[in-house]
Amino acid sequence: MLELNGKRILLGITGGIAAYKAAELVRLLRRSNAEVQVVMTKAATEFITPLTLQTLSGRTVRQDFFDANDEATIGHIDLARWADLILIAPATADFMARLAHGRANDLLSTLCLATTAPIALAPAMNRQMWLNPATQTNASLLQTRGVTLWGPAEGEQACGETGPGRMLEPAALLSQAVKQFSHQPLAGQSVLLTAGPTQEPIDPVRFIGNRSSGKMGFALAQAFIETGAQVHLIAGPVTLATPRGATRIDVATAHEMQQQVSAHLSRCNIFVACAAVADYRPETVAAEKIKKSREQLALTLIKNPDILAEVAASATPPFTVGFAAETEQLIKHAQEKRRLKRVDMIAANLVGAEQGGFERDENALTVLWEGGRKELPMARKEKLAQSLAATIIERYYAKKHPTENP
Ligand code: CTP
Repeated sequence: MLELNGKRILLGITGGIAAYKAAELVRLLRRSNAEVQVVMTKAATEFITPLTLQTLSGRTVRQDFFDANDEATIGHIDLARWADLILIAPATADFMARLAHGRANDLLSTLCLATTAPIALAPAMNRQMWLNPATQTNASLLQTRGVTLWGPAEGEQACGETGPGRMLEPAALLSQAVKQFSHQPLAGQSVLLTAGPTQEPIDPVRFIGNRSSGKMGFALAQAFIETGAQVHLIAGPVTLATPRGATRIDVATAHEMQQQVSAHLSRCNIFVACAAVADYRPETVAAEKIKKSREQLALTLIKNPDILAEVAASATPPFTVGFAAETEQLIKHAQEKRRLKRVDMIAANLVGAEQGGFERDENALTVLWEGGRKELPMARKEKLAQSLAATIIERYYAKKHPTENP
């Protein structure tokens, strides 16, 4: 019965008769070992008392912005970040309409706007209200934005009618929550990746590049999509197909890659730097093709920004993962890189000779973090990417959910 071990569920209760079932839902979620924070709308308190839900959840029930004044209670933005899932049960027609319009006129609707966690609704209303085109349009609109609907069920209604609009039973909502977490550990989370080489122009037809194929970054993007994450892939010049479901942004130079990373950073939970970014670029780019008129040609190179280090040093960094390709003393150099760049995790591999790495379909990695290490043996990059994604997810949640409460 511990399927939801440690998962943080923000249970929103809105004002419908089915609100009384929320008590049983809280009990079941707690029994599955989830942490449950109840947030009620004002109307919901007419149907069930906050005291009942507080007793069952073991946490102070939140009703508006201003009950966060005492220091022990977390503010609304922190609460939005705290949740691994926002479940609104019951969700009334009015709440769905407010959500569809992006309203922020009470604590619960504001939390839904501010969160990156997945949102699931358990609609509960009279069948005519459910079938009304306005509600149906709102439901479709919310689904296109990634909100999940659990139910409604058909059956006898509190108003005496029979039809669609009954809230799913608490046990059915529990199994939906379990299913969501077991298959999609990163549902509602956003991952930003860089991949491939960069090209630093010398003149209109020449550039400094490297042999990175982008295969590892693209395979990792695919692996993250399979875990339910929203994936943005910032790719240097490669000819690989875009992983289905990823948003791809093509760039050429390190500078362009840096710009795109910073434009997409604010909503990302995990950043993985797979790109082989050129460390240096020509100081000046010739306006015309350089002619071979001289016996020698010297290029002055200047340092490119270190994208990974910049992300790790940002004010509120995501969980940050870098790669280290080394030709010798793998662990020593990779650990130094991890500490120097202050990243959460480094995936290190030996390059050159028989070791895999650039331009190969197979690779092996040693993954290092503060106080831990994992060997991922030689495998095809697709398989290796799945193992690496699983390791990243494990460490991401270990960091996000240290044992104490927020
Ligand atoms: N990286 C980056 N921006 C750069 C250089 C590197 O984001 N300008 C990232 C890479 O994507 C990789 C990690 O930093 O995740 C390590 O890159 P690597 O080239 O191995 O290390 P460097 O820091 O460049 O050090 P060195 O080349 O001296 O080994």
